[in-house]
Parts: sequence; structure tokens; C-alpha cells
Amino acid sequence: MSVGIDRINFYVPRFYLDLRELAQARQQDPDKYTIGIGQDQMAIAPLEQDIIAMAANAAYPLLEEDDKDLIDMVLFATETSFDFSKAAAVYLHDLLGIQPYARAVEFKEACYAGTAALQMACDYVRLRPERKVLVLTSDISRYGLSSSGEVTQGAGAVAFVVSANPSILAISSQSLAYTSNQFDFWRPYYRREALVDGKFSNQLYQDIFVRLMGQFLNIDRETIAELETIHFHLPYSKMGMKALKALRDQNSDSLIQEKVDLWLERYPQTTYLGRRVGNIYTGSLYLSLISSLIYQESFEPSHKLALFSYGSGAVAELLIGELQDGYQKHLDIESMLDQLDQRQALTVAQYEQLYQESIPVTEDEFIVCQQATEPGFYLHRVDGHRRFYIFNKINPNPKTEIRVE
Ligand code: HMG
Repeated sequence: MSVGIDRINFYVPRFYLDLRELAQARQQDPDKYTIGIGQDQMAIAPLEQDIIAMAANAAYPLLEEDDKDLIDMVLFATETSFDFSKAAAVYLHDLLGIQPYARAVEFKEACYAGTAALQMACDYVRLRPERKVLVLTSDISRYGLSSSGEVTQGAGAVAFVVSANPSILAISSQSLAYTSNQFDFWRPYYRREALVDGKFSNQLYQDIFVRLMGQFLNIDRETIAELETIHFHLPYSKMGMKALKALRDQNSDSLIQEKVDLWLERYPQTTYLGRRVGNIYTGSLYLSLISSLIYQESFEPSHKLALFSYGSGAVAELLIGELQDGYQKHLDIESMLDQLDQRQALTVAQYEQLYQESIPVTEDEFIVCQQATEPGFYLHRVDGHRRFYIFNKINPNPKTEIRVE
């Protein structure tokens, strides 16, 4: 019996910023952003599309009535949490109508947390193959305005259903993890923006990848030989390529030298979606997987794929998956790509205005969004420090422009 990702979907908020415009505003060469960093656009979330709303919108199209009775756990990974006690998963359990005798828990370890949730989900289903688990990743990444990290922001959610005999990707129980206490990127509870040592974070990411690959090669050379593609956690699209090149420079094993050429050849397809969305932290690796599932023409059933999960702080893991026959039939590619195409571009001034907005931290009722302009879940109001969500079945006014002046 195999276990893994049976269905997968992503959701991005309805605004984006063209990074050439940001480059102009920050007096940078646009090529630095689009070639040097490798990002074209970044997704921007208004207040009503918070981590809960985005995750609910990612998961909603995946769930059939039967699933709601079969799901035993809702596992939510984020580093954009707004509550130190109540798990974001509890809201999702309610909004999505999951059966009551289920667990709902939030996971944290920077961008790695989604992988911890996926691994827990797979282990659970290996013991109870008739049951399912819903895994959600949702984040809004924030660096300072005009900081070097600004161009690597993003927002979005990825949801997947884990089951036995999955339709998309079987996850091997064999994987390799690595932990090392580091200060490359972190966000103390009193800050809205992350603290980051950008150059060090790049170096650490590459060092840990090279180290994990070297160790995996020692343990299971055969699997490395079979790997068709490696997917990366992508804070920006060039990061994985830098890691592959570092591996080629630092590991002289002939198998690695031969395989890195193939992995680099297939690398661009793993980045197409991320280039338009930006860093969505816990979901970035899985957005890269979806990108490959959509765009990789050379994929065939039973191809072995690797997923390199990296979370600052730092924890990393190399996962191995096996592509399932007919996987594309189980992806709603048209809807996923439509939502990207239908987003509205912001000017830099509009982006900066949205960036400054926040929900007041008072007891008073605060209406976040009276009437959503698009279908789906959104944050309606905060009252007495409680968040309330609404599901909008239809777009009340498709021609409505954004509410930012
Ligand atoms: P920077 O220092 O402004 O950029 O910020 P740079 O000067 O290093 O330039 C970037 C690249 O653009 C370089 O290429 C330049 O040569 C090139 P590289 O040497 O890297 O190949 N370049 C140009 N190319 C074409 N035309 C030009 C031009 N000018 C320069 N005119 C940095 C870059 C990534 C440091 C910054 O954006 C940052 O701090 N980002 C946030 C941290 C980050 O993303 N780190 C990645 C690893 S850590 C991670 O992945 C975890 C994370 O997701 C958090 C979590 O786990 O929760 C962040």
C-alpha cells in the first residue's frame, strides 16, 4: 500500500505587484529582480484574505462530502500565526465542515512546518489506511519596505489531502532530516516583519542541501540514481538553482555530477508558479511541486521526485515521492491558472498602503470587509479579539475595482 498526496490545490490573494515597477520605485535595475533574484511578481494579501481565508479557499475545491467524514486530522502549517493558543486549524475544521471527532493542530518551524505536517499525516494514514488527513499551509511573508528582502515577499496557501493509494504522489517512508540551531531568519512575537541575515541565509540553505544530499548518497545511492527532478523550497526562484550548483561544485561523486545536469534541465518548470507568487513560506515547496505537475512535459508515472524542504532556524528534510499514473486528471489546472491570470495589479503606492494596514488590537468590533468582491471565504470582522469569516458564493459585482484609493 502506498500513502501520499491524493489531491492538491493552491490559492493566492487577488492582488499582485509587478516587480519591474517595484524595481523602478526602489531605484534598482529590474534585471536584478527578474534575473538576479528570478521573480516577476509578488502576491499581496488584503486584510480580508488572511491565512485562514486563503487556506479555506485552497482546501474547499478539494473536498467532497465523503472526505469530510473520512478526515481525522486537520494539520495547519504557518509562520503567520495570529494566536499563540488557538490553532488556525480549528477555524478550518469549522469552515470546511470536517466531522467533529477529528484533531486540529497548528505546526511551526518556519518554512519547514508543512513538511512536518505532511509526514505526520502520512504516518497516520499508514496505520489507518481507510482514513484521510487534510494538510494546509498558509502564509503572508513580510520584510521591511525598501529592505533587500522586500522583493522576496508573497502570500498564498496550498492544501492537500493525504490518503492511501494516492492519485498524485506517493510519499516514501524513507526520508532524511537535519536540524541545526541558527539565526538566519526569525520573527520574535513582537514583530510583524521577519529579521533576516540575507547572505547567511542563502549560504546556510545551500550548505544544508549539500550536506543532506551527501548523506543521502551514503545511505541510498540507488534512490539518488533514480531521481528525475528535485523540487525546492523557493524563497525566490533562483535559490534552488544556486543549491544545485553548490552541490555540483562541492560533491565530486560521478553520480552527482551526472544527475545535477538533469535536475538543472528540469529546474525552470519547478519555478514557474513561484515566480508569479513569491515566497509563501510553508507552501513554497508544494507550490513548486504543483508547478512541475503542470508544466513538466517529461514526467511519467512512477518517476521518482525529491522534495527539499527548508525552514530557517534551521530544519530541513529531503523527501522522496513517486508520481502516480494519471496524476494530471486529478489536478484542476485551468482553475489554478485562471486565478493567477485574474488577479489585479497594484501600483507601488497601493501596495505600500496595503502593507501599512492592520487590524486594530482593541475590544471593539472592526469590520474588515463588508462585502467581498470575489467568491470564497474571507475575513468579515474582528469583534472582542475574535475573528469571524464569511463564505461568499458568488461575486456580487465582478466589475468592482479594489477599495484602495
Ligand atoms: P540582495 O543582497 O539585495 O541581492 O538581496 P544581491 O546583491 O545578492 O543580488 C542578488 C542576485 O542578483 C545576485 O546573483 C546578483 O549578482 C544579481 P547571485 O550572486 O545570487 O547569483 N544581480 C543582478 N542580476 C542581473 N542584473 C542585475 C543584477 N544586479 C544584481 N542588474 C537576498 C538578496 C536574497 C539576500 C534578499 O532578497 C533577502 O534577504 N531575502 C530574504 C531571505 C531569503 O530569501 N533567503 C533565502 C534562503 S533562507 C530561506 O529560504 C528561508 C525563508 O523562506 C524563511 C523561512 O524558512 O521561513 C526565507
